[in-house]
Amino acid sequence: MKKIDISSNINGIKLTSCIMNASGVLCCTEKELSEIMMSSSGAVVTKSCTMIPREGNLEPRYFKWNMGSINSMGLPNLGIDFYLNFLEKKKPKKPFFLSISGLSIEENYQLIRKANLSPNINAIELNLSCPNLIEKKDQGLLGYDFYKTSDFLDNLFKFYKKPLGVKLPPYFEDFHIKKMAFILNQFPICFVTCINSLPNGLFIDINHETTVIHPKKGFGGIGGSIIKPFALANIRKFYIYLRKDISIIGCGGICSGKDVFEHILCGASAVQVGTQFFQEGIQVFDRLKKEFISILRKKNYFSIENFKGQLNVI
Ligand SMILES: Cc1cc2nc3c(=O)[nH]c(=O)nc-3n(C[C@H](O)[C@H](O)[C@H](O)COP(=O)(O)O)c2cc1C
Repeated sequence: MKKIDISSNINGIKLTSCIMNASGVLCCTEKELSEIMMSSSGAVVTKSCTMIPREGNLEPRYFKWNMGSINSMGLPNLGIDFYLNFLEKKKPKKPFFLSISGLSIEENYQLIRKANLSPNINAIELNLSCPNLIEKKDQGLLGYDFYKTSDFLDNLFKFYKKPLGVKLPPYFEDFHIKKMAFILNQFPICFVTCINSLPNGLFIDINHETTVIHPKKGFGGIGGSIIKPFALANIRKFYIYLRKDISIIGCGGICSGKDVFEHILCGASAVQVGTQFFQEGIQVFDRLKKEFISILRKKNYFSIENFKGQLNVI
């Protein structure tokens, strides 16, 4: 039987499997990161980090129901030094993406300068889309401010020369995706990860007539199968509008091998798993890999390059 290869290449960064973890889910501590390193995940992405460690928002701050999850974690993380030291100490044998999410543009510059000094990071995943910060309640997501994003990237690429990707929020209008792609196309961006959680969702417990999570009056970011159509639409449109050398990492609603196939058919070069990883634990990577390979075998495909981006439109 011919071998099915599900490896991927993110702008020169080689992944033995195109399926990996999404930032923020079970990738904060040494134990969690070590577990991902040992698993069949194609890469390791860290929890989005800040300059100093954060405890995050008050509990309950995560809730899962059949269609997906709601969270308002508030970036609990161990601080950038912890993640850089982890990398130094463990020297992972698979690509290591450091996710960063400063609380301000200034802090993002500080984080990127620090990461720039580390020889072992394969790439930074710059989070422009964290929806759950109490400190930022009067400011929008950076990814929704086109002018600020452009200015920010312009300044950062003056001093940062290593691979960098951006994690984007979901966009709901073609015009916005076109505009963001136009901005990103002007910079040496290595990849785009779309999408982050859908911001400002609300889920209700009718027995107690309350919200299910505590922070921000119950509003939070939505993930899981319910957001897959938005993820697919963002991947597809960015695939059309972005420069062809910018890879897309799909994220949002991956629960099965079929979901992985759909993301790649729309144009993703790799996929990330968040809510389903939280739900199922580390064996999710083996299961998804098995289901995905079985679909490729039935379709007579031997690598993701056989169908990546080749969605037929009726
Ligand atoms: C508990 C939790 C924490 C998250 N924390 C982060 C984070 O720190 N940085 C980030 O870029 N995305 C974060 N996300 C968003 C996920 O990486 C992902 O974009 C989103 O959940 C959609 O994927 P999913 O449908 O597989 O959950 C978090 C999601 C969850 C559920």
